[in-house]
Amino acid sequence: MVAKMKIAILGAGNVGGALGRLWAAKGHSVTFATPNPKSEKVANLLRTIAGTTAATNREAAASADVVALCVPWTAVQEAVQSCGGLAGKILIDATNPLASDLSGLVIGTTTSAAEQIAGWAQGAKVVKAFNTIGAMDFGNARFGSQRADGFYCGDDPAAKAVVKQLVDDIDMEPVDVGPLRNARLLEPLAMLWIDLAVNQRQGTDHGFKLLRR
Ligand SMILES: NC(=O)c1ccc[n+]([C@@H]2O[C@H](COP(=O)([O-])OP(=O)(O)OC[C@H]3O[C@@H](n4cnc5c(N)ncnc54)[C@H](OP(=O)(O)O)[C@@H]3O)[C@@H](O)[C@H]2O)c1
Repeated sequence: MVAKMKIAILGAGNVGGALGRLWAAKGHSVTFATPNPKSEKVANLLRTIAGTTAATNREAAASADVVALCVPWTAVQEAVQSCGGLAGKILIDATNPLASDLSGLVIGTTTSAAEQIAGWAQGAKVVKAFNTIGAMDFGNARFGSQRADGFYCGDDPAAKAVVKQLVDDIDMEPVDVGPLRNARLLEPLAMLWIDLAVNQRQGTDHGFKLLRR
């Protein structure tokens, strides 16, 4: 029996909306965390995804087992701090530290967005995941007989086991790529996906697969 999680999603946009829809369909309890939970925009979202709720960042995070960070890089530090403490929580980092013109990443090689987030969210069990494929492919990542890989990394084995299930729940192949510092490698991989899709105009029907033998 797979555990059903209480999940707070910070950022109800492309990524947060897609994850929320898919996780709610799998029976998880999903709350969209937003600075303005009573806005018309949020009400519209809740109408389209049965069983979900909305709350402020602080309220949603306080009652969640898992907090999924799905905001633009420029909003990440404020969003994390607005939760008012995430110690002991599983904090999924789905962000990418993109330059505003999508020409590259604004941090990398000697650190990563995920490691910076771990510094801001003291005591949280940070797992990087859901950042290496477009949100339009969540729940739609089958390529012939194979599923695109959903890479994740982190330092807490129990948190990673939960994220593994949440990756499977959006019908991607969970692939553990090691410690959180390997977010330094996953974030550039995301940039490759984006560059192919946007800068090289190849569309969004691609995903990554690690082959083994
Ligand atoms: N788009 C993709 O395909 C994709 C795939 C993988 C990873 N990512 C990464 O995922 C992150 C989100 O991307 P996205 O495309 O989903 O962005 P998006 O569609 O622009 O959505 C961002 C959401 O974050 C909300 N937000 C902003 N500041 C917030 C705060 N302080 N607290 C709570 N919510 C806040 C925004 O609300 P308002 O609209 O009200 O401002 C909006 O709902 C980015 O870091 C991106 O690089 C994106």
